Amino acid sequence: MARSLSRILVLNGPNLNLLGRREPEIYGTADLATIEATLQNIGFDLGALIESRQSNHEGRLVDWLQEAREDFDGVLLNAAALTHTSVALRDAIVASETPCVEVHLSNVHAREPFRHTSLISGVCVGVVLGFGPNSYALGLRGLIDYLRSPERTED
Ligand code: DQA
Repeated sequence: MARSLSRILVLNGPNLNLLGRREPEIYGTADLATIEATLQNIGFDLGALIESRQSNHEGRLVDWLQEAREDFDGVLLNAAALTHTSVALRDAIVASETPCVEVHLSNVHAREPFRHTSLISGVCVGVVLGFGPNSYALGLRGLIDYLRSPERTED
């Protein structure tokens, strides 16, 4: 049976454009382009169209989450520092009515206390953190599985 391609929007928040150069002892040496290329390959293998975007601006991320409502089936999101502060992003995830998976390179729970709170986890379908770039790969596979789960596709 033919299966339509899942359309996945990958969003990265503030300072993640500096991956590879920014605090490599915490975030590793892979740059964002390398992570995005890996996600493209996984998408190709699993029959998903992947579009990746990064912004340092909260409002732009909100705009993109709103776009997801019409144009995407799922969102993979590393909201970076905005994870811990942004009610606007949380509200935008809810308003998008699009399943969202939260990812982080680092294990935020093993870091400073202010990183232990996520304002977005409660409105995401799942969270993957602490595995470096592999958090994105695991999160993408989980999101695609979730989108294709029988409970969601039966009707
Ligand atoms: C991060 C964790 C955040 O606390 C931090 O502000 C980031 C990156 C991560 O991927 O580990 O910018 O989201």
